[in-house]
Amino acid sequence: MNPSPTRRILSGVQPSGKLHLGNYFGAIKQHIALQSDGRSFYFLADYHSMTTVQDAKLRRQLTLDAAMDYIALGLDPRKAIFFRQSDVPEVCELAWVLGTVINMGLLERAHSYKDKLAKGFEASVGLFTYPILMAADILIYRSNVVPVGEDQVQHIEITRDIAEKFNRIYGEVFPLPDHRLEEGAKVPGVDGQKMSKSYGNTIEIFAEGKPLKKSVMGIVTDSTPVEAPKNPENCTVFTLYKLFATADEQQELATRYRAGGMGYGEAKTMLLGKIDGCFAPFREKRKQLASSPADVEEILREGAKKARTEARATMELVRAATGIGS
Ligand code: TRP
Repeated sequence: MNPSPTRRILSGVQPSGKLHLGNYFGAIKQHIALQSDGRSFYFLADYHSMTTVQDAKLRRQLTLDAAMDYIALGLDPRKAIFFRQSDVPEVCELAWVLGTVINMGLLERAHSYKDKLAKGFEASVGLFTYPILMAADILIYRSNVVPVGEDQVQHIEITRDIAEKFNRIYGEVFPLPDHRLEEGAKVPGVDGQKMSKSYGNTIEIFAEGKPLKKSVMGIVTDSTPVEAPKNPENCTVFTLYKLFATADEQQELATRYRAGGMGYGEAKTMLLGKIDGCFAPFREKRKQLASSPADVEEILREGAKKARTEARATMELVRAATGIGS
């Protein structure tokens, strides 16, 4: 990949609840690592959240919470342009424009829409056109690279299709973005399935004390007795431990598993220690931020100013190319 300093990296986060280890190792960690790899744009997708959340107070809270989570975990507003999607309403104008060059059929094939339908959700028009708004998010900042999880790859392909079609009709305006698949680890939840809020099997990043201990001690293990040798490879506790431990530490614990004489309770206690060690500093930062929400708002406002300048410049090109406006 071309590490040119002007490469633009963009990703959006839907503010949808408490972040967990799956979010961290699957996405957030990479977002933060990439923030100085080019010009990076990260935003809280509150417009997108309207397809699932319909409570104003809750949306405000979730958005602010997600902002604090990201900043506490290391997002640096001096490195990345960090903002709230709806503070740049131009993106809705672009979404309209893009909707006029894309056919229904392309959206009807979108997995995320089909999945929701299959689960019995009543589809709003907004849910159907979700990928168009996402394309607008990406294209309005003229992004080159979009780091996303597997489930979002198709949306980036749709974005490329839309950009290509627009460019063909109205002339070259948009660079074609590439997705960058998060190399993040697959993180199992406490029941061994993929960690996911919808399965209720998460360990939250900002949990601490008793509730955290309760989640970790609740990890499901097999019933091999304490004395017997154990296989680390198919143990959820060990899989989670690997996310935090050095190669030597992993080796050491694996050896103890295989030797027998160690119960799962002990491994869980070691895992708990690792989780605490990794996230304790972030928790402190998170508490400071929570006590000064106005500062967080200010960061988002400043981010939005920069983002909006970029968005407006793109919209000038779009308006000129399409013949809308004067
Ligand atoms: N749909 C993404 C998700 O649920 C969030 C998102 C919205 C996004 N707009 C985006 C991600 C633009 C990348 C680029 O995870």
